[in-house]
Amino acid sequence: MRTDIVILAAGQGSRMKSGLPKVLHKIAGKPMLEHVILAAQKVQNSGTIHVVVGHGADQVKAALPQYPVNWVEQTQQLGTGHAVAQALPGIEGADAVLVAYGDVPLIKSSTLKLLMEACHGKDLALLTATMADPSGLGRIVRNQMGNIQAIVEHKDASLEQLAIHEVNTGIMALPGHRIGIWLNNLSDSNAQQEYYLTDTVAMAVAEGTTVVHAQPEHLTEVKGVNSRIQLAELEREYQQQQAEQFMGAGVTLMDPARVDFRGNITLGQDVTIDINVVLEGDVTIGNNVVIESGCVIRNASIGEGSTIKAHSVLDNVVVAGHCDIGPFARLRPGTELANHVRVGNFVEIKKSAIGEGSKVNHLTYVGDAEVGANVNVGAGTVTCNYDGVNKHKTVISDGAFIGTNSSLVAPVTIGEGATTAAGSTITQDVPNNELGVGRGRQRNINGWRRPVKQF
Ligand code: UD1
Ligand code: CA
Repeated sequence: MRTDIVILAAGQGSRMKSGLPKVLHKIAGKPMLEHVILAAQKVQNSGTIHVVVGHGADQVKAALPQYPVNWVEQTQQLGTGHAVAQALPGIEGADAVLVAYGDVPLIKSSTLKLLMEACHGKDLALLTATMADPSGLGRIVRNQMGNIQAIVEHKDASLEQLAIHEVNTGIMALPGHRIGIWLNNLSDSNAQQEYYLTDTVAMAVAEGTTVVHAQPEHLTEVKGVNSRIQLAELEREYQQQQAEQFMGAGVTLMDPARVDFRGNITLGQDVTIDINVVLEGDVTIGNNVVIESGCVIRNASIGEGSTIKAHSVLDNVVVAGHCDIGPFARLRPGTELANHVRVGNFVEIKKSAIGEGSKVNHLTYVGDAEVGANVNVGAGTVTCNYDGVNKHKTVISDGAFIGTNSSLVAPVTIGEGATTAAGSTITQDVPNNELGVGRGRQRNINGWRRPVKQF
């Protein structure tokens, strides 16, 4: 059975007051529309995903180029029925058509699947919800037998209908052999002068097509976003859901309300995360890792047993097991730490590999460097990697000891077991096991007196 999925995303979203099309506003670091496409992909069988775009169409398409969807343009927003009708040429031959909204981002694939199965290519299946405050939404009108007769939009509803609390979520599955006929018969003679997708329900009833319904597990799934306030509310609900999933899988969150997961995050068992931590992008964290408060970790993998101390920033890095980072460390793109590396406070590392057991403990910049195993980099060391035009490489071999406040002027190689004297400016390679001294020799001036204040 081929089910096509039509995602409506042409609306303006004027209440967002934004230059960005509404469906590109993000929940947990991903555009709302992307959440819906991902859910759709999970239930997609042989069918196509069609996305109806209008306002900011080019921007929307450009933001999600990686998805093999059929972009359909709706140049004028004449209603949800009109929007789905724009996709009709692509839908032809589908057994069922599932309609979802690009601004209802947390719909679950399991719920979409439920509707698809309820439709089964022959019935009209509606996702309804019962809400304490149904205002603004389409009401589900049933007869005395409890069978669905129609959906009446809020603006067209009678007083009696306004009292109904069962509402249309907008998400529905329609039989492929009827959808074209129904959409072509829609009229816009209603309060909003729009072509309502919801009018297909009364058409189905009139011709004897069975109308069935399902309800979502959580109301969060069917909440739409029309304003930044609603966006923030859904963000919180989504973060709470993710936090609960992680805790269920054996992660300790010191406060599940004060950690944000924005991306594809994998956390091992007995990971502990303190407050105000942000994990972004593709992040994989091994068992028993501790992340102290205030860390930002983006596109990173952190090996088992490592500790990331407070206020460290890790961006596009690979950290192996049992490392100890921070507090206040900054690991920039291209940093790779082997097992048992120690990086201390106010250390910045960029595009460098640090070998097993090495220590870079305080106030140091390591850039474009290859650091071996069991190296000790003293406080205040700087790899002078940039001559103002080009970047050059520093090699520090196994077992080397870099004295405090060394400037290593790249390109330069420090040999195995070599030492640099504190305060050296090292401009030449230091051979294995030798001491490199690159500083003025100290002299003491006998009889020198401090200046005295003149009047
Ligand atoms: C619609 C339903 C209503 C339901 C509500 C749930 C209709 C007529 N009404 O209301 O029963 O309770 O959703 O939120 O279907 N869109 C387009 N092109 C258009 C019009 C809309 O792409 O021409 C898109 C919007 O961007 C949005 C979605 O369709 O993603 C729903 O549109 P919206 O105007 O929010 O829905 P309502 O008409 O208020
Ligand atoms: Ca709406």
